[in-house]
Amino acid sequence: METRTLRNCLGHFTTGVTVITCMAEGEPHGATVNSFTAVSLDPALVLVSLDRRTKACRHLEDVPFTVHVLRERQDDLALHFAGKPADQPIDWVPGTGGLAPRLPDPLTYLACTPWRSYDGGDHVLFLGEIQEYECYQGDPLVFYLGKFRRLGTAFETIPWLESADCPSTLDFSWLTPAS
Ligand SMILES: Cc1cc2nc3c(=O)[nH]c(=O)nc-3n(C[C@H](O)[C@H](O)[C@H](O)COP(=O)(O)O)c2cc1C
Repeated sequence: METRTLRNCLGHFTTGVTVITCMAEGEPHGATVNSFTAVSLDPALVLVSLDRRTKACRHLEDVPFTVHVLRERQDDLALHFAGKPADQPIDWVPGTGGLAPRLPDPLTYLACTPWRSYDGGDHVLFLGEIQEYECYQGDPLVFYLGKFRRLGTAFETIPWLESADCPSTLDFSWLTPAS
């Protein structure tokens, strides 16, 4: 199977963009990841899939990690943690209670302790159990066909009535205003 054409095909699946952080040899480490997936509510589990060649993959084994969903204007941060470091240093927020260090001003963060990891071919699948999370108002950074994008306009139709994700059953009043 030709890897490049397969990647192009997979790139048709639109995602948000996250940065995963953890401690690595006494220093905070981050990697940009769009393979983030919610897995389970009880227990509260999330998953990221990391290329075995990344430093993050080596560092994440059995350590707490934090997932940051990036805001629309944070494409520079996404590039910074994808191997194109920006000039200005990162203003790390220390993790509390043994949790991983955090980035300032994400759209959402989910601080996790390690749950399990699984063989995923040339990737490793890391599941984390959410210990702490916070959501703020704003729009997400979007990734589609190799480019960062903005969120489009919402349809008025509600295609998934009766499912657990039905918007009429969701209450967003818990969203914390952005600082
Ligand atoms: C939008 C975007 C999404 C990415 N998603 C992933 C991913 O899900 N898994 C992965 O292993 N690498 C992913 N990468 C590549 C890593 O960010 C890149 O290899 C990074 O340099 C790894 O950092 P490290 O080796 O310092 O840990 C992505 C890069 C970008 C720009």
